[in-house]
Formats: sequence, C-alpha cells, structure tokens
Amino acid sequence: TARRRKIVAGNWKMNKSVPEALALVRDLRGQVASLGDTVEVVVAPPFVALQPLHVALEGAPLALAAQNCHWESSGAFTGEISAPMLAELGCAYVIVGHSERRQLFGDTDEQVNKRAKAVRAAGMTPIICVGETLAEREANQTLAVVERQVRGALEGFGVKDVAGFVLAYEPVWAIGTGRNATAAQAQEVHAAIRGLVERLYDGETAGRVRIQYGGSVKPDNAAELLGQPDVDGALVGGASLKAGDFAAIVKAAT
Ligand code: G3P
Repeated sequence: TARRRKIVAGNWKMNKSVPEALALVRDLRGQVASLGDTVEVVVAPPFVALQPLHVALEGAPLALAAQNCHWESSGAFTGEISAPMLAELGCAYVIVGHSERRQLFGDTDEQVNKRAKAVRAAGMTPIICVGETLAEREANQTLAVVERQVRGALEGFGVKDVAGFVLAYEPVWAIGTGRNATAAQAQEVHAAIRGLVERLYDGETAGRVRIQYGGSVKPDNAAELLGQPDVDGALVGGASLKAGDFAAIVKAAT
C-alpha cells in the first residue's frame, strides 16, 4: 500500500477577524513546530485574512487554503474571487463543494467540478468535499450519493491531476453537531471512495489520492478516526478555532 502523508486542515468558515487570525496562527505555529513534517498542516481562513496570513506565515510549515473560489478567472462576477487571485496570495489549496456551499448557496456537482478545474489550472490543489445528509444515510443512499458527488467533481480530470488531489468525506449530519461518524462508518465510506477512484483511474492513483474525514473531529476522537487505513487526515471546523485543540488533532495524525 502507498504511504500517504496525512493532511490536517482547519476550515475556519466565517470566523475570526484579521487580528484574531494572526493570533491564532502565531499560537498554532508554536504548538506544531515540534511535530516534524510527517503531517501536512493547512489553515483555511476567510478570504480577507489570506493576505495577512500569507505574510505572517512566510517560511512556516503551515499551508494556506481558501474556502471556495469562482470558476472564471476574471470578469464581471460581482462579489466573487477567482482561483488565480488565490494563488497570488500563496494559497496551496482551495476547498470546493463544502456541504454548506452545496446546501446554503446551491453549489451543484457541475459547479464543484468547474471550481476544481479552476483551482488546478491556477496551480493549486482542490480539497473536494462530499458527503450524505442524514435522510440520505437513513435511506441507505450514502454510497450512491458520495459516488455521484465524486464522479461529478472529478469529471474530465486525468490520473496526473487526481493522484495529487485531496478528497474530504464530510457526512452532513456530523458537521457542527458534535456527533462524529464512528471510525468504522468513516472507514467504510473512505474505502468505497478509494475503490471508486481505482475504478475510474487506476490502483496507483487510488493509492496516492488523500481522503480526509470531516465532521465533529475533536482532540478526543481524532486518533481513532485517523487510525483507519483509508483516513488520510482531517478537515476540522469548530475545533480548528482553538490552537490547542487543533494542535492536538494534528498531533493525533503523527
Ligand atoms: O469543513 C469542516 C467542517 O465542515 C466540519 O466542521 O465543526 O463539525 O468540525 P466541524
């Protein structure tokens, strides 16, 4: 089996002022400094904090991610931010297809695919989020929904791209609820996603693509979730807003 470097990312969502963001990464930097480079650590602050953090993180072992982007590179799209703009601010990653985007802002599988293409074209890596709602899980639709979302997001991408991508399995019912998926539930879906990537591409690509789990990851459940063979990291919401909690999750990934 391929060795995949774990990746733990903090999705701050619409939280933290610029001064708070600077203070948080200052703390975090101190706390993760001793952990070495066995795990990749990423923070995804709101857009307005990206430039100040880009400056503050110069030389730090913390990568920057944006939380979304538009698919066009420029033009008359009032209120939108393009992938090249994010690349210019030092973003290595862009989260696309987060369930809050899908549910609250109408993101479709096709739009997620277009956003991922824009991210790749700008030289960054997409973190592509997928996940079922509670109703879908209860109707035994979990794997069908996740498969549709993964197929949709990856449409038109080749092996070279996909091997470097990050997928994030975030069951909607586990997000912000304090009710995480069990390690076994996460592993089942992660293995299914990796199997799908193998069918769509090949074993080498499936062995390299990294799949994060997201949904109520906390310091006390991180080690068990991250200990699953197909869980290659975590996408953390609430617990990423406190340096101590986030650092503890990063530590659990080492
Ligand atoms: O993208 C991460 C997120 O949706 C999970 O949020 O607060 O349940 O960790 P939370």
